[in-house]
Amino acid sequence: MFDIRYPADLPITARREEIIAAIRDHQVVILAGETGSGKTTQLPKMCLEAAGDNLRGQIGCTQPRRVAAMSVSKRVAEELNVPWGREVGCKMRFSDDTSRDTRIKFMTDGILLAEIQSDPMLRAYSILILDEAHERSLNIDFLLGYLRGLLQQRPDLKLVVTSATIDTEAFSKHFGDAPIIEVSGRMFPVEIRYAPLPTDDEIDMIEAAVSAVEDALIESSEGDVLVFMPTERDIRETRDLLEGRLGSTYEVLALFGRMASGDQQRIFSPGRKRRVVVATNVAETSITIPRIRYVIDTGLARISRYNPRTRTKRLPVETVSQSSANQRAGRAGRVQDGICIRLLAQDDYMKRERFTMPEIQRANLAEVILRMKAFKLGEIESFPFINPPTQAAIRSGYELLHELGALDETHEMSPLGKELAQLPVDPTLGRMLLQARKEKALPEMLVIAAGLSIPDPRERPDDDKERAAAAHKAWWCPDSDFISLLRIWQAVPQTDGKGGMNALRKFCKSNYLSFMRMREWRDVWKQLSDTLADDGQALSESKGSNDDAIHRSILSGQLGHIALREERNLYKAGGNRQVTLFPGSNLYERRDKNKPGKPGQDKSKQPPWIVAGEIVHTSQLFARSVAKINPDWIAELGGHLCERRYSEPHYSVKTGRVLVTERVFLHGLEVKRQHRSRACAAPAPGT
Ligand code: CDP
Ligand code: MG
Repeated sequence: MFDIRYPADLPITARREEIIAAIRDHQVVILAGETGSGKTTQLPKMCLEAAGDNLRGQIGCTQPRRVAAMSVSKRVAEELNVPWGREVGCKMRFSDDTSRDTRIKFMTDGILLAEIQSDPMLRAYSILILDEAHERSLNIDFLLGYLRGLLQQRPDLKLVVTSATIDTEAFSKHFGDAPIIEVSGRMFPVEIRYAPLPTDDEIDMIEAAVSAVEDALIESSEGDVLVFMPTERDIRETRDLLEGRLGSTYEVLALFGRMASGDQQRIFSPGRKRRVVVATNVAETSITIPRIRYVIDTGLARISRYNPRTRTKRLPVETVSQSSANQRAGRAGRVQDGICIRLLAQDDYMKRERFTMPEIQRANLAEVILRMKAFKLGEIESFPFINPPTQAAIRSGYELLHELGALDETHEMSPLGKELAQLPVDPTLGRMLLQARKEKALPEMLVIAAGLSIPDPRERPDDDKERAAAAHKAWWCPDSDFISLLRIWQAVPQTDGKGGMNALRKFCKSNYLSFMRMREWRDVWKQLSDTLADDGQALSESKGSNDDAIHRSILSGQLGHIALREERNLYKAGGNRQVTLFPGSNLYERRDKNKPGKPGQDKSKQPPWIVAGEIVHTSQLFARSVAKINPDWIAELGGHLCERRYSEPHYSVKTGRVLVTERVFLHGLEVKRQHRSRACAAPAPGT
């Protein structure tokens, strides 16, 4: 049916017979090999050959990234000489280019997970290829675990797990000592040079990368350059700067996860000009760019990480592991001897983690549990993870989900939980956004949520404190730090493009704001808005700045962060924890030295009840980013958590009935006390 050929110059081609035999003889095969050895493009064809006429279902191949799934599926269709979208297709969120004739189906791993819900036995497939397993994202770990069980129920299903040459033993062990085939690529030696940055400034990083590129292009008269940058924005800026400096003699290209497919195709078809490709870690192992001789590595990447202080997930820029750095360097040695310039010191490299930690160990277990429930993967406690999470982490995951009202007492998903699982953000943030949508304050909440995920953008230089304070005063809001954040955002000139950046820079300077953090804030806000907009949410519905609506939204996601005032700057949070207001908060009160209050007299304007966006444990427990809340909201939004105690039945002469005192507690804090007649003691339903 197919005209199957293998490019002679790919290392995997030489091992073809052996690989096909292994797939025929074993249910699971682990295939390890250097990036570019031909795993992704050639394996589906070998699967076709291994199955021969017995191929009943499809060959499904999962990819961690959309850009890789798309480009590789096109390549395979081309190699098999069939139109893309028919025998060879590609499916991802919001686009399905497969047909009834599709034999080889590329997809993102999220798609295969989603298919488990409607086809738990995955009957559509005869062979599955789990590509890039070394990335150990949550999706990959879910699939590895689920498939282990499924393979026992479906002896006819075959699985090939492919990975860079990292930790292949773990995969083999996980699948009952499955055979490992290692395809050693023809790798040329790569010289590593270290060129640490003068400071930790991001601007310097781009500047340094650009001059390293210029040096490389001069040093050698042939070969292309690949630059690794942590974020999309860094990539764009580096590209713009390079284009300005290099002129039209060279071609400068950007490569990142979410980009137009026309631009993607250009990556694989270099013209006559020498090229500089500026990429995120998508070029680390997912996508092989031809002709690279030089690699410039910043050693940084965006890595998702759960932040227990805000109970949300962040995507901070972090240093990559040694194994990542080595993969990156390897990109330089595919065609001939290569050179990798690391923009860091050698001992910095030596001090780094050997391997990147699997996502499950950095993740919010609440999110993991919710996703496992949504995908119908079974219970987290008994799920065969390669690295199972700790009991303590699982427990706090459940606690958070109960607090958010996503699960009921029997650990089943509530309707709200189902809604949360649909949102592509972590559950705490998701809960706030759902509430904000109801309260018609979503645009404001998006701004605040993004603002909370970056460090405070206000700068307070020691030698210029008064003027900074005076500048910041414009955004001051006596009972809410969140509203201050919103006001900063609203004050910023919102123009885009280069001129916009200059305007922002100027604005920041005269208002004592960090330009970098403001930019980061915009980036996170954009990411968040884009993810939600992808889901077809109306993001613009706002009643205008309604502070109560905003604070109720925050409270809905942070019911565990409420606190009751005890004395100046000192609050009691749930679980009997003493928290201190952070001195940078608007609500913090400095002791007035001139007018000492009389003992027993408290002139404070501090609100009795607050919610904190963040609780930080440093020298003591600090509540950061706080706002005054109305305690009635707590019982309203946290009804499912409240415990009600009744006491002191007494006869009311006025009403002629027996009344009891109802006291409502949340995490041990008394949030409400009222007299009720005995009959109506049913708890109010939560919202
Ligand atoms: O998966 P692995 O890293 O082992 O290699 P691959 O992605 O199968 O790539 C094998 C070769 O095909 C590389 O030289 C790529 O540059 C090339 N390729 C291409 O030219 N166009 C694509 N869309 C994908 C791969
Ligand atoms: Mg590959």
